[in-house]
Amino acid sequence: MKRDFLEVTDLTREEVWRIFDRAKYFKQERSRHRQEEILAGKHLGLLFSKPSTRTRVSFEVAILELGGTPIYLAGQSTQVSRGETIKDTARVLSRYLSGLVVRTFKQEEVKEYGRWFAFPVINALTDTSHPCQALSDYFTILEKKKTFDGLCLTYIGDPNNVCNSLVLMADLLGVSIRISSPPGYPLSPLVRQQMRNPQLLKVSTDPAAFIADADVIYTDTWVSMGSESKEKERIAVFREYQVNENLLSRAKKDFLFMHCLPAHRGQEVTDTVIDGENSVVIDQAENRLHCQKALLEFLHGG
Ligand code: CP
Ligand code: NVA
Repeated sequence: MKRDFLEVTDLTREEVWRIFDRAKYFKQERSRHRQEEILAGKHLGLLFSKPSTRTRVSFEVAILELGGTPIYLAGQSTQVSRGETIKDTARVLSRYLSGLVVRTFKQEEVKEYGRWFAFPVINALTDTSHPCQALSDYFTILEKKKTFDGLCLTYIGDPNNVCNSLVLMADLLGVSIRISSPPGYPLSPLVRQQMRNPQLLKVSTDPAAFIADADVIYTDTWVSMGSESKEKERIAVFREYQVNENLLSRAKKDFLFMHCLPAHRGQEVTDTVIDGENSVVIDQAENRLHCQKALLEFLHGG
């Protein structure tokens, strides 16, 4: 039976570890200019209804370096934007393509592609999840910190799609996760309910509550794609949650600063922090490529 990657919970802990091992291998092989033709003769579609730099390019390069052909489909240029159903679209695309990577709005839409597309579907971000990001983020943490034992990740700001997937991956891998977010902007109860180890999670409305114990300090934009109409209000609400030098004054010396990017410098993070020596944001972005190769190999039966 085909496998999809629509949410973090589509993988077991063992499968995530296997993907990490393979991502490490693909990273080494690339540094030696060696490639594997796992997707030779296959065409994979990238159907994106929101902008993207990292996800699009890292998937296109991953597919090309695995010997396959990526076909980029801008959501607005397809008939889906004129009301053709996902069911019809996915069944037709199954006759041309061997895989689909989808960036869209509702989680239900990626599920519908998964239901009707005959081959693996990968979620490249929805309003409520970003599982490929979480995969490479924890790979990056492992690369830098060598172990997840005793590790604590503190997320500050908007408990959004990226945060949801970080929480579910923390739950899978046994990592302690802390969230500081403003009153009225809590972590989604649906995500909390999915946790099998809820004792790993602590939340607070105090931006400084979980700084001193954090091995990783993570933030993301206050205005995600699709919520631009609330920009002004959100910037006002989240102001106190900016990751800046003052907030980090009690942080451990060797904490990692992470951000999925794109960053809004001067809003959720200052230049000093994102360009500082604790920041690993560019490594995080690079690792998308290696982890997605490993994911493609896993889903396509490599
Ligand atoms: N982090 C991330 O998904 O970036 P893009 O929106 O550029 O793909
Ligand atoms: N939370 C952000 C992530 C972008 C990669 C958004 O959804 O816009």
